[in-house]
Amino acid sequence: MDQHYNYKVVKQFAIATVVWGVVGMLVGVLIAAQLAWPALNLDIPWLTYGRLRPLHTNAVIFAFGICGLFATSYYVVQRTCQVRLFSDKLAAFTFWGWQAVILSAVVTLPMGLTRGKEYAELEWPISILIAVVWIAYAVVFFGTIVKRKVKHIYVANWFFAAYIIAVTILHVVNGMSMPASAFKSYSVYAGVQDAMIQWWYGHNAVGFILTAGYLGMVYYFIPKQAERPVYSYRLSIVHFWALIFTYMWAGPHHLHYTALPDWTQSLGMVFSLVLLAPSWGGMINGMMTLSGAWHKLRTDPILKFMIVSLSFYGIATFEGPMMSIKTINSLSHYTDWTIAHVHGGALGWVGFITMGSIYYIIPRLAAEQKMYSTKLIDLHFWVATIGIVLYIAAMWIAGVMQGLMWRAVNPDGTLTYTFAESVKATYPYYVVRFSGGLLYLSGMCIMAYNTWMTLRGRATAVARIPALKVAHAEHAEQPAHA
Ligand code: HEM
Ligand code: HEM
Repeated sequence: MDQHYNYKVVKQFAIATVVWGVVGMLVGVLIAAQLAWPALNLDIPWLTYGRLRPLHTNAVIFAFGICGLFATSYYVVQRTCQVRLFSDKLAAFTFWGWQAVILSAVVTLPMGLTRGKEYAELEWPISILIAVVWIAYAVVFFGTIVKRKVKHIYVANWFFAAYIIAVTILHVVNGMSMPASAFKSYSVYAGVQDAMIQWWYGHNAVGFILTAGYLGMVYYFIPKQAERPVYSYRLSIVHFWALIFTYMWAGPHHLHYTALPDWTQSLGMVFSLVLLAPSWGGMINGMMTLSGAWHKLRTDPILKFMIVSLSFYGIATFEGPMMSIKTINSLSHYTDWTIAHVHGGALGWVGFITMGSIYYIIPRLAAEQKMYSTKLIDLHFWVATIGIVLYIAAMWIAGVMQGLMWRAVNPDGTLTYTFAESVKATYPYYVVRFSGGLLYLSGMCIMAYNTWMTLRGRATAVARIPALKVAHAEHAEQPAHA
């Protein structure tokens, strides 16, 4: 292992990603089961759906998702700048500080302590801790960029940088609250302004955490794993600026047909439609990086994770702009169609690119420099892919069905269906979604086992990863052509 770099913190975050992945998805499976069989809350307040749902979203986004981003951004910034992290102590602080944030969420959310803002639920003392850890993260990341030995700043770092800066702004502005007691605070904004700020935050959490951060992974790990340079470096820069400019304006598509001024809703819709172009620019750039290396998909399951991830990114960023069109949103909003869209993005895009990248990193941190079992990576890939398909297909059908049932009217103007009838009709789809989620969770458990065995030094000879030979000879601009 290379002592030149700080791999300790990368390893800690990589392990945390896997562990929190299992936990967050387990809670996801539990709430999916509760929607099909409500008695599963066992009449215990801490286990009620309303409390576990935010626990799920926080665990998968802020624990699994962001630990993955910490691990990969710390790895990539060191390798491409060819220097050690700016400060080992501060990096260790970000690890332990972030785990403290996660543990606080695990305790407070089931207790029902919440600010009530989606994806910004954590009460003010935890919110302040998040801000402190995040500033330390920014110092470590940008400090490393400043002391870099390579003049050029590789494009993956641009995406990580945008994500770190944007999250700081979003968290501080949306988090502005008046504390009323140690564990209760109220937003300083009121009424429709509060909603507007909340969804400016919510949408940009999608744009900068669930998108820009993971594009950072795309631009480093896909070229590395495929041993090919990025298809078009120029396209990566154009799509970077177009993406970050456009995302900021699209938030109002979450507030169609509300008290928000109509022109604001239309503006959000137009920017969402424009967003299709830079999103697909990024997807195509990632896909085309495989030019001349497509055959590798036959044998390399890590590459499969990465490329299928880009396909789901393409699906989610086509579907999103469509759903932002007001007339379509009038059908999809409040239905499980939104949940299908979310999980196409979350399981397919975010989940798969994270898994692919962590599978790339883990063996490089292990004594034997190879994964315990390539077969298990392949098994994980297939189990998870089938899981996603079941999940999102069930939710698409359920969503469209719900939308159509809710708007159906009889000739005399009365509603054709009661709400309860639509719930009853959804039941089989909830069962299918539950089984899809269970498969996806099983895949994550396979990954946890494989990671555990690899880090314990139990790799088998057959599992040697082909791209390994370039791992120690990095080139900043085109990492695969070292
Ligand atoms: C085993 C895998 C998973 C299962 C079974 C699962 C299940 C669920 C369920 C049942 C809900 C509530 C849906 C509703 O209220 O109708 C939900 C919401 C959500 N999940 Fe998951 N989930 C999984 C993985 C993930 C992952 C990996 C992510 C993100 C990286 C994620 C992000 C979200 C988000 C953002 C929401 C809120 C959606 C909204 O409010 O529209 N989930 N999930
Ligand atoms: C061009 C890109 C995208 C656009 C224009 C877009 C648009 C939309 C729209 C219109 C909604 C429904 C709002 C509603 O009716 O309430 C939505 C919901 C959502 N989208 Fe996307 N989307 C995009 C990409 C993505 C990606 C890549 C992800 C990654 C996971 C994602 C995650 C979400 C989440 C979590 C929600 C649910 C928010 C909530 O209500 O809690 N989106 N998106």
